Amino acid sequence: MQINKYIYSFNCDITERELCKLESKYIFNKEEQNKLLFSDIKVEPSGSAFIKSRLDVISFSEHYSTLISDIKNENIRVEGFKIEYLVFDGDRTEYSDRLRKLRDIGFSIEGDTDYYYPTITYALCYYEGVWYFGVLIKNDIAWHRHRQKPCSFSNSIGANIAKALVNIAAEANKEKKLLDACCGVGTIMLEACFAGNNIEGCDINEKTCHNARKNLSHFNYTAHVYHSDIKDISRRYEAAIIDLPYNLFTSATDSDISHIIESAAEITDRLIIVSTSDIKGLIHKTGFKISDYCSVSKRGKVNFARKIWVCEKNECSEN
Ligand SMILES: C[S@@+](CC[C@H](N)C(=O)[O-])C[C@H]1O[C@@H](n2cnc3c(N)ncnc32)[C@H](O)[C@@H]1O
Repeated sequence: MQINKYIYSFNCDITERELCKLESKYIFNKEEQNKLLFSDIKVEPSGSAFIKSRLDVISFSEHYSTLISDIKNENIRVEGFKIEYLVFDGDRTEYSDRLRKLRDIGFSIEGDTDYYYPTITYALCYYEGVWYFGVLIKNDIAWHRHRQKPCSFSNSIGANIAKALVNIAAEANKEKKLLDACCGVGTIMLEACFAGNNIEGCDINEKTCHNARKNLSHFNYTAHVYHSDIKDISRRYEAAIIDLPYNLFTSATDSDISHIIESAAEITDRLIIVSTSDIKGLIHKTGFKISDYCSVSKRGKVNFARKIWVCEKNECSEN
């Protein structure tokens, strides 16, 4: 039986469904299905807003009794452990049976349990005819502390989208040089720094840059913020994230948007753009092709949606 090392479970609001799938595609080279994904790629759940947990598989079997003897054979000795049952799609195991199974596993591990302050959490789950046992790593939501950043901005993007943009840009490679091309107060940069990505930022507005630096240093992150029009940035990046000023026809004109996209296209071959209107035509004009697209609506705001465009330089283009 071919089994992956890790089982990821996902959770997201209905408005973020498409983004959750898009993010998983760029982290794992495949999309989550039924809020689950099996992979050999190891990522920290807290690097994404949508990954609820990762199970590091220790034992698996089609037969529950074999699983229990395999766990016993592991000779696990640990103080203060906890065991959880993960209910996956299609698992019809009754609650009382689940509790019994957790007890079986408890008796297969040497040491005392601690359900309040566990030193390690194990989990049991069943999916498509196979029982799995392993160590459970949860999204510890430590990044929620960014909500207390000293400077905020009414046009700031939400942290969930910010994290997804970083993951789509980085493609599971922390070394990739990323630019937050319209960084505002640095919401995207905060999430990138938290996850250990290599990012720099730039913004045309001096006060906003000052606020982004203040936010970054508040959390002891050291990422460079350039006070600059994107057109004056000459360093090259492996990907640039552009959270465009909106609205297209009010605070930023069509030509402002073109100017930003065309300038960023000069310094990278990959763009991840956030807009509030259809900018397909403007992207094609830069000689980039749209490789992926998704929309994220806002609860309670029927007329507002953020559109996320993943663009790559068209190899046939002379631009
Ligand atoms: C929607 S806001 C970005 C918000 C940011 N993602 C955040 O969460 O704080 C767009 C930003 O683009 C900046 N901007 C507009 N034109 C620019 C240009 N030509 N070069 C660089 N930044 C620009 C604006 O100053 C504004 O801060």
